[in-house]
Amino acid sequence: MTALQWRACCWYFWVLLTNAAWTQNMYDESDPYDWSFHTFECPQECFCPPSFPNALYCDSKGLKEIPAIPARIWYLYLQNNLIETVPAKPFVNATQLKWINLNNNKITSNGIEKAVFSNMKSLLYLFLEDNELDEVPAPLPMSLEQLRLARNKIGTIPARAFNNLENLTMLDLHQNKLLDSTFSSDTFQGLNSLVQLNIARNSLTKMPPILPANVMQLFLDNNSIEAIPANYFDAMLKLIFLRLNNNKLTDEGLPNKVFNISSLLDLQLSYNELTRIPAITAHLEHLHLDNNRINSVNSTQICPIPIPGEHVYERNLPRLRYLRLDGNEIKPPIPFDLMLCFRLLQAVVI
Ligand SMILES: *[C@@H]1O[C@H](CO)[C@@H](O)[C@H](O)[C@H]1NC(C)=O
Ligand SMILES: *[C@@H]1O[C@H](CO)[C@@H](O)[C@H](O)[C@H]1NC(C)=O
Ligand SMILES: *[C@@H]1O[C@H](CO)[C@@H](O)[C@H](O)[C@H]1NC(C)=O
Ligand SMILES: *[C@@H]1O[C@H](CO)[C@@H](O)[C@H](O)[C@H]1NC(C)=O
Ligand SMILES: *[C@@H]1O[C@H](CO)[C@@H](O)[C@H](O)[C@H]1NC(C)=O
Repeated sequence: MTALQWRACCWYFWVLLTNAAWTQNMYDESDPYDWSFHTFECPQECFCPPSFPNALYCDSKGLKEIPAIPARIWYLYLQNNLIETVPAKPFVNATQLKWINLNNNKITSNGIEKAVFSNMKSLLYLFLEDNELDEVPAPLPMSLEQLRLARNKIGTIPARAFNNLENLTMLDLHQNKLLDSTFSSDTFQGLNSLVQLNIARNSLTKMPPILPANVMQLFLDNNSIEAIPANYFDAMLKLIFLRLNNNKLTDEGLPNKVFNISSLLDLQLSYNELTRIPAITAHLEHLHLDNNRINSVNSTQICPIPIPGEHVYERNLPRLRYLRLDGNEIKPPIPFDLMLCFRLLQAVVI
């Protein structure tokens, strides 16, 4: 080593060393009561934005384990990692957590330590999509408002897992392995704030058991549902969107007045086995019936009111604006009196 090389190399080391010592010094000399130092404690794998001290970004870092979460954190981003387990230890100080995003990891149901979530008394959002869960995690904190469990392998819902979640507005279980037998009659009992329930892409052959009265959006696409019990929707006085596309519904499976739901605005029944257009209310705005086996349109039957004459002024005109009938066996033209009935129709796809 020439003198020049030595100086180049070791000057650099000396700077590194003194820098480290200097940093160390800073810590040593910092006031032990300096709250700002403790407040900005940040796991080395993660990013702590100085302007948003309640958030901790540990997403997309190849993490296999959850780092110790500082006490100040409300919003925790851990998505897109390789995490397999959720132990209680990293969360012991994190008593103020409101949101946890654990989407797209490798978490199994066995890997979740009992009560790890129910101990988070302020938790509002829990996202666990795209993991390897075979059960809904339980117990869950009573404070929860959103629970997203899509794209796991869930076939089991522990008894009363949802029953205390009085503030839960959104429950997403789509693309799992739910069977009719997964549910019991009280599975959804107590979910008094539930607005959106997504059970699309599962293996149901029946409608789920009694649903809470406040549900506005119910998604059941891509199951194998054959029938809907009469009066099923009678207590659901707020239902607005109902999606049952890609099921096995037949005319026999639909009792006469089953869709007489006065709040309903959007009804989707595409890709089923219907040969008749089911009865609808005058309030309905969107009706999807494409890709069934419907071969004719009888306007008298489908019009929710007696078909008004051409020049009759009608106060309570049916509100249907969008009607899809393509992929059936209907031959154009569309009967003229369909337009007399649905005067607000903006599009008919046939
Ligand atoms: C919790 O906080 C205590 C006191 O600040 C600290 O000693 C401990 O390491 C923390 N534990 C975790 C898992 O963050
Ligand atoms: C539910 O929400 C209300 C209103 O925000 C709140 O007062 C109540 O404490 C919440 N319930 C639970 C169990 O967190
Ligand atoms: C249902 O399945 C069809 C066909 O596989 C697919 O195109 C559609 O996106 C699925 N819909 C939902 C809501 O999963
Ligand atoms: C539809 O339900 C309403 C109550 O929401 C009721 O008044 C009406 O008679 C029902 N119509 C039919 C055809 O059953
Ligand atoms: C349409 O339905 C009504 C009432 O069910 C019936 O009287 C009428 O004959 C039907 N019209 C056609 C063209 O089949």
